[in-house]
Amino acid sequence: MQKMGEIWERFAREDARYYIATNAPSEETFWEQGEKNVEQFVAPLTQNYGMGTAVVVDFGCGIGRHSFPLARIFAQVVGVDVSPTMVHRAREMAQARGVANARFVTLGSFFSEELLADFVYCAHVFQHIESWAEIEDLLRNLRKKMRGYGYFHFDTRPPSLLQRVRLALPDWALPRSYRRGIRRIRRSPEEVRQLFQEIRLEILEEHQPSSEYHFFFVREMK
Ligand SMILES: C[S@@+](CC[C@H](N)C(=O)[O-])C[C@H]1O[C@@H](n2cnc3c(N)ncnc32)[C@H](O)[C@@H]1O
Repeated sequence: MQKMGEIWERFAREDARYYIATNAPSEETFWEQGEKNVEQFVAPLTQNYGMGTAVVVDFGCGIGRHSFPLARIFAQVVGVDVSPTMVHRAREMAQARGVANARFVTLGSFFSEELLADFVYCAHVFQHIESWAEIEDLLRNLRKKMRGYGYFHFDTRPPSLLQRVRLALPDWALPRSYRRGIRRIRRSPEEVRQLFQEIRLEILEEHQPSSEYHFFFVREMK
């Protein structure tokens, strides 16, 4: 099995926008989705919890769909992605839009820099990672970069027979959006809660529980 980084680099070169949001029918909708998600979910959290707004990390940022709206709330945005082409495209977008307070870095350079984020935002990323051990590892490392809050997305729909069949089929027998790398892997909400507990992140709110858009709003436990 190819590594996720290689798969996403291929996706980024082939058709980044499609793979980032297979449900966005147009470029306009794609960017609107990012605006709407930040306005509807993130903005109220920053206000209701009096969150610091100096630094946000957009983990698995793609080409910056959420990073740019986040740049209107936070003083500094750090977009992080495993794919160098995604990072490159996000930088180009930032320049084209005149967004000066967002910078984009690859995974390796992010984890080697010293930085603490008031808020870590991670949408539409963990759902594509097949290995639970890899998610655990990423979250443990991300936890070390937090000095406040995080918002993490998982697909927690109950398992289904159809999903099991799809997981067993080879890529060539599946439509593009169900192939390895882009398909969504469902997790039990319990195992996600357990992991947050283990890494000392307290769950403050859960949005759209037991759905494909289950978000956990967490805060570091002192
Ligand atoms: C479906 S896209 C979502 C992009 C962005 N969060 C958005 O919602 O527009 C998933 C992104 O996560 C990135 N990604 C996948 N695995 C990653 C990992 N282990 N670390 C960092 N980024 C990763 C991919 O390269 C891709 O840009």
